[in-house]
Amino acid sequence: MPHESALPSDTPLVVVAIDGPAASGKSSTAHWVAERLGYRHVDSGALYRTLTLLASQEAGPAEEWTEARLLALAERVRLAPIPGGFEPLIDDAPAGDGIRGIEVTRAVSRVAQMPAIREWVNARVRLAARGNAVVVDGRDIGTVVFPDAPLKVFLVADPWERARRRLVQRLERRPSDDEIAEETERLVQRDAKDATQTVQAKDAILLDTTYLTQAEQVDRIVALARALERVGHDRGQAGRGTDA
Ligand code: DC
Repeated sequence: MPHESALPSDTPLVVVAIDGPAASGKSSTAHWVAERLGYRHVDSGALYRTLTLLASQEAGPAEEWTEARLLALAERVRLAPIPGGFEPLIDDAPAGDGIRGIEVTRAVSRVAQMPAIREWVNARVRLAARGNAVVVDGRDIGTVVFPDAPLKVFLVADPWERARRRLVQRLERRPSDDEIAEETERLVQRDAKDATQTVQAKDAILLDTTYLTQAEQVDRIVALARALERVGHDRGQAGRGTDA
């Protein structure tokens, strides 16, 4: 067992990878899991969103965005450490809530399809994770970004329930069935656009949250992470025993 200081400097200490489709609760779950474990949260989708916001301000209509133009704009985007996680910056200023807006949400899948942009995001996420214990959420974290993560969770939920949760969050009231039906249609269309990169790793644990509360989802993932921490600790002890 190499000592921690012998690890290459770009190796994260521990990664919990949380993937899943839109509105499956990845980001909020990842945030709370990170807080409970004392890890840092890295939201990979926020990087795609921040670049999309910048492009919408500076690169004309979305149909005209090219990979080269977006890669040039990406030089102005980075993740800055904040307590418990990272915040996306544009030109060193916080990108703000605009990254969650409807326009960005509509255009972001186009940006996330571009291979060079995916590589840029993956590099930024790995950089943020360097030397940290992290909970990273996205679509391809367990398959592409950190294929060796010791804990991978793939969150799913019934589309109607995902739509309902998203509307409750956005409207801060109980949505009507018609509103949920409309939102479900939008979500299913987004699922189709993001399908190629939203992949469950073979060794991921599938967690269906349709009938779980947020607190229950967090509890389950924290319990899995703690169990793995204990296994790692016991292995470390056993290794030391043999060496002595
Ligand atoms: O999870 P989200 O809604 O913030 O993601 C925004 C967009 O980025 C969405 O189109 C999916 C895409 N994405 C991705 O392709 N890979 C990731 N690791 C994270 C997000």
